[in-house]
Amino acid sequence: MSKPKVWVSRPLFADIVARLEPYFEVHAETDERAYSAVELRERLADVDAAIVGLSDRIDSDAIAAAKHLKIVANTGVGYNNLDLDALTAAGIAASNTPDVLTESVADFAWALMLGAARRISASERWLRAGQWKTSRFDGWLGADVHGSTLGILGMGRIGQAIARRASGFRTKVIYHNRSRLPADVERECGANYVDKDTLLAQSDHLILVLPFTAANRHAIGEAELARMKKTAVLVNIARGGIVDDAALARVLAAGDIAAAALDVYEGEPVVNPALLALDNVLLTPHIASASIDTRRAMAMLAVDNVLALFGHGPHADHPPTLLNPGVLASAG
Ligand code: 8YV
Repeated sequence: MSKPKVWVSRPLFADIVARLEPYFEVHAETDERAYSAVELRERLADVDAAIVGLSDRIDSDAIAAAKHLKIVANTGVGYNNLDLDALTAAGIAASNTPDVLTESVADFAWALMLGAARRISASERWLRAGQWKTSRFDGWLGADVHGSTLGILGMGRIGQAIARRASGFRTKVIYHNRSRLPADVERECGANYVDKDTLLAQSDHLILVLPFTAANRHAIGEAELARMKKTAVLVNIARGGIVDDAALARVLAAGDIAAAALDVYEGEPVVNPALLALDNVLLTPHIASASIDTRRAMAMLAVDNVLALFGHGPHADHPPTLLNPGVLASAG
């Protein structure tokens, strides 16, 4: 009997992808690139499983010809690239990679906040450009993180991990979330719930950790930026599109907030040129989860989900992080 086929849309780690080989015919791409809707449809038409990334838009069109497809495993915790309703309606399981990246992403949020507040990358650019002739006592002044008020918008697993890191900095944490956390979780994170306007007005540093949904598009736009302190630092590690990047560039250029740090962008990998022209914004290329251990754990988890759905691996028959587990129940 021929083996089922799996398509891996992006280079992962060869040794981890190799775990599929005893059970699957593996078609693993060796380049990272975006696929057109037509290419995705073609790639998925003939396979039983797919491991995909955030730039692969898996919607009803992409799966229209995928008659054998049983699982789409996403290599990220955010899954706004998947049309979960369409997958579920087609009886196709979907999985993501929660938990394994929480702590690395929280570390990175702090790195960005500190980097933007203390002007690390701008001052390094200046040094590398050979401009360090004298050390001005009043040069490169930034904002303190210790003792400040840290605001977190979106208080899921990653938001909570960011909050927990605050105690060593003696930073006061306030947060806003669709639903308020239970009191014991708030206590454990040392975080106080406030409404969104209070969060915007009181945060010295504001970190965005919301999932991307239609309702969250431009959750931080002109009006929200106007409510922030002139001295505030904004950090987006969530998704491009949650911030109105053009509005942010205008506000940063006018000095209406002090600085920003962005790991995600509207239309990435293209970055709004108005942001690129500014020195008070620290820009990283969507790497918050990119520690060696975490990216390996994410790849492992995606592979584990595929193996498990086909009855193999450490979680045989129980894919560990399915987004639509009901699909299995209805498949009997
Ligand atoms: C990406 C992310 O998955 O998990 C997410 O939602 O945005 C990141 O961890 C990572 O950049 C791989 O594409």
